[in-house]
Amino acid sequence: MKYNFDEIIDRNDTGAIKIDFVPDLWGRNDLIPLWVADMDFATAPFVVEAIKKRCEHPVLGYTHKCDSWFDAIVRWQQMRYGWSVERDWLNFVPGIVPGLGHCLQAFTKPGDKILIQTPVYHPYILVPQNSGREVVMSDLIVPSNEALRGLDGAGEANFDIDWARFERDVEGCKLFFLCHPHNPGGRVWTRDELCRMADICFRHHVIVVSDEIHADLTFAPHRHIPFSSVSDVAAMNSITLASPSKAFNMPGLTSSYSIIPNPDIAATFNRWLDSGEFNLGHLFAYETVVAAYTNGTEWLDQCLAYIEGNIDFVLQTLRADMPLIGMIRPQASYLVFLDCRGLRLPVEELNRFFADEARLALNDGAMFGKPGEGFMRLNVASPRSVIRRAMQQLKEAYDKRFG
Ligand SMILES: Cc1ncc(COP(=O)(O)O)c(C=O)c1O
Repeated sequence: MKYNFDEIIDRNDTGAIKIDFVPDLWGRNDLIPLWVADMDFATAPFVVEAIKKRCEHPVLGYTHKCDSWFDAIVRWQQMRYGWSVERDWLNFVPGIVPGLGHCLQAFTKPGDKILIQTPVYHPYILVPQNSGREVVMSDLIVPSNEALRGLDGAGEANFDIDWARFERDVEGCKLFFLCHPHNPGGRVWTRDELCRMADICFRHHVIVVSDEIHADLTFAPHRHIPFSSVSDVAAMNSITLASPSKAFNMPGLTSSYSIIPNPDIAATFNRWLDSGEFNLGHLFAYETVVAAYTNGTEWLDQCLAYIEGNIDFVLQTLRADMPLIGMIRPQASYLVFLDCRGLRLPVEELNRFFADEARLALNDGAMFGKPGEGFMRLNVASPRSVIRRAMQQLKEAYDKRFG
């Protein structure tokens, strides 16, 4: 490999949330932090180079979205997904989660209902709730514990949509926050599923906000298909939020953007963004989006191969040494949802087991909604030696309790 993902990089004293918040949240500082969804690998070098190069010019003044920013996004979406995005569909958004908040402000009022598919990335619950909207949790179908422990011989199970429930839940909602690919399941929704969601939402006058932040981390043979690209109905009734931040490990840079083919939806959204200059952006976002999308393919291929190696390693270790723990094998990204239901521990005790016995800082699956109870989310975007040590610690704790 040209790029070295084995290198251990000390992130202490960089203000890393993943590290600095551990003592407050877990009450101890000897845990391996494998929770917040960023990577412990070096950010792609051409991204860092772009920042350095820009700093060679001594004036860091107000900067507009240059042609190169629009061109890089249009090229990337075309090259990776065959999606022909037009320049005037694009705008800068100051982060995907803030983008969800801006969608709420632009299209809904307090008391309005927002549809989400639980378990899901927790800000989907918190952002609407914190702004006085009602969250409608359309639970996904959770695979059985047997399937996730590889006991049923059926291959890779993942979350599925309960369509009857989705049809019921969508009724009366204003927006649907679609997590595509899905976090924490790593599910890459298929064309059929996307078309069906698009049709149902269109019929019910529900605008779809498709968060595609994990898209570039999709593993073959799965293919990410942009929601908005699946049909005219989808294109005319959606807002896509995307960013190179996950794939190139630059989430500290706030470099997201919106893609809105419907001019009326775009006008409403952009008017709201304009009103507070939320879409002004910043020069490092522009420079680094261009750098990532212009130079990114080879680095991304190698990073994905490395992450897949980590996922394989975790799966093999669980199957061989900790058969009571299953996992959802992600079809995209580096978040592995561990199925700990076989341990038969109540939620609090499960969390204590991982922290105090295995000494791992992981996300409690319950924070993503009720169907996440009994799961723990493990971030495997770390050097293999760290993941190996984490699995060793987990095995020792497991053997003591369940061996
Ligand atoms: C599905 C999803 N959306 C959004 C985000 C965060 O995006 P941002 O940092 O741009 O707000 C994350 C981070 O984990 C995520 O998993």
